Amino acid sequence: MLEVRDLHVKFHSRQRQAVGGVSFSIADGEILGLVGESGSGKSVTALTVAGLLDREKAECSGSVLLDGVDLLKLQEPELRQLRGKRIGVVFQEPQTCMDPLMKVGRQVEEALAIHTNTSREERRRLAIQALTDVELPDPETVYDKYPHELSGGQLQRAMIAAAILTRPALLLLDEPTTALDVTVQAQILELLKKLNREHGISMLFISHNLYVVKKLCRRVAVMQRGLLVEEGDTQEVFYHPQHPYTQRLIAAIPTRQRPKP
Ligand SMILES: Nc1ncnc2c1ncn2[C@@H]1O[C@H](COP(=O)(O)OP(=O)(O)OP(=O)(O)O)[C@@H](O)[C@H]1O
Ligand SMILES: [Mg+2]
Repeated sequence: MLEVRDLHVKFHSRQRQAVGGVSFSIADGEILGLVGESGSGKSVTALTVAGLLDREKAECSGSVLLDGVDLLKLQEPELRQLRGKRIGVVFQEPQTCMDPLMKVGRQVEEALAIHTNTSREERRRLAIQALTDVELPDPETVYDKYPHELSGGQLQRAMIAAAILTRPALLLLDEPTTALDVTVQAQILELLKKLNREHGISMLFISHNLYVVKKLCRRVAVMQRGLLVEEGDTQEVFYHPQHPYTQRLIAAIPTRQRPKP
């Protein structure tokens, strides 16, 4: 469903390309993990796929095919349409993505308000359905709360609800659990698995933590300095890393989570 071919991204302000020729694909219903050190180009890759890269600041080449349509060739209005409907995006810090002065429900249904002419009542019904899908207890109450009245984990669930509201085919998740404590992190991973299983949503899951990726993704790609250095079955990469960089990444995992030699 998604095929990225030889993607290059270069910011005008920088000498080196942020993404230096990356190719990968995600099949229907698949979750691909993308790991790598800070600054390796994971977020820039996701932003480009989402069409959120600021085209004034950076130039890109290659292709990003979503069901055969090259997103890099689309103009902003078409792209915005697609982003709301076919691609959902979830980022690391739910606190910074939400408007503190706007009720959670309104923000969850925002994509519908922008992309469709659904009535006010219908939007509310769908938003509450999405809040139910992400297993937030008492979704009707949550709908009328402000972001600061929810915990970090609840907010992240609300962000995921917003991202799946239009039933996108692809979810881009950029470190969605990094800011959360371990227990909540595990719950969010379970939720993502469920959404993948029940709604068949494909996902690109970005994390710097290979251990977390192993729990969620059957396949993983490893990025270093703008390039993919290794890609394969997660178990295989985790237990038999080929590239020295992947080996170092695994050595950085806390001992009790690390594969036994
Ligand atoms: N708006 C920007 N302007 C200039 N350079 C940028 C911009 N955004 C990212 N970069 C650069 O592009 C490179 C890749 O950054 P990116 O954010 O994709 O890394 P990352 O793998 O997501 O790292 P992290 O794990 O810290 O989130 C870095 O060198 C970064 O400094
Ligand atoms: Mg990042």
